[in-house]
Amino acid sequence: MIRADIKGLSAYHVPDAKGMIKLDAMENPYPLPETVRRALAERLATASIHRYPDAAARRLRQRIATHEGVAPEQVLIGNGSDEIIQMLILAVKDGPCIAPAPTFVMYEVISRWLRRPYVPVPLEENFALDADRFLHAASRERARLAFLACPNNPTGNLWEQDTIARIRDGFGGLLVIDEAYAPFSERNHLHLMGKRTAVLRTFSKLGWAGLRLGYLIADAELIEHVNKVRLPYNINTLSQLAAEVLFDHFEAFEAQAARIRDERARLARELGGIPGAEVFPSQTNFITLRLPRAEQVFEHLLVSGILIKRLGGHPLLRDCLRITVGTREENDRLLAALKEACR
Ligand SMILES: Cc1ncc(COP(=O)(O)O)c(C=O)c1O
Repeated sequence: MIRADIKGLSAYHVPDAKGMIKLDAMENPYPLPETVRRALAERLATASIHRYPDAAARRLRQRIATHEGVAPEQVLIGNGSDEIIQMLILAVKDGPCIAPAPTFVMYEVISRWLRRPYVPVPLEENFALDADRFLHAASRERARLAFLACPNNPTGNLWEQDTIARIRDGFGGLLVIDEAYAPFSERNHLHLMGKRTAVLRTFSKLGWAGLRLGYLIADAELIEHVNKVRLPYNINTLSQLAAEVLFDHFEAFEAQAARIRDERARLARELGGIPGAEVFPSQTNFITLRLPRAEQVFEHLLVSGILIKRLGGHPLLRDCLRITVGTREENDRLLAALKEACR
């Protein structure tokens, strides 16, 4: 009954991190401030759970539009940005999807589910993106949909502004600039938005990962069409209400993001001091580094109660580990365990 290619896939695996220091999933390590927690409890108590949610999430959409300085018609909300990636791959005309490699895995995974050919364009050894190479592959393969994660996961870097602008100008299909890490990045690309360029964002990295809320900002006509493949009621009532409360306290999350950026700088400095470590520049809330004996280091951290991400699947990621920036205490524990492992 099941398609042979689906049988050959593995389900998305999330390791059990119970009782561990969890530095594997690019989450915000700071819990909700107590005042926000109370406001949230009060508001959620008013939820009409016996009714379906507002199918168009009107209030939240308006809130996001105001926050981003665009019209509500230019905003589409998804159950995480993953869902929007899926909607885009469903809605765009036949033809390959193209993205740099390595990059965020869901572009390829969802393309496979939906039987859309996928073209990975290798990054340079230092994770730079060659715009000519990308555009050449896009035109050769007649790609219709391109994803550029800016900054990129799992490499952590942000490609040159000129590279991104050249791809935008030269690509003939729909370009999606995925800014999942915008809160930690020195620049964003909303100004590049246009008829064939959309910007994808998420609240996940800002501290709302459990709500599952991502959004696409694009031309109103494009949004109107992509909205047709959105499942009804994709954003549940609790997430809609919770997001409104969290928006009322947005500065608390911006302050947490600033702390994460500070900790990122400290962590990068300290990691750079580990003999043999090659630490890649990061514009995100994680740091990718190459270490001799990365596999053993990963295992050592695991038995020390610290979960990070072991990167693989692409030759450019050999011996690479990805560490989400934690709280100061978590980072200190990580550094101590790392130094012990690398002695
Ligand atoms: C580049 C990029 N885009 C999108 C996502 C998915 O985010 P969401 O939690 O909104 O589905 C991630 C998650 O790691 C990511 O790294």
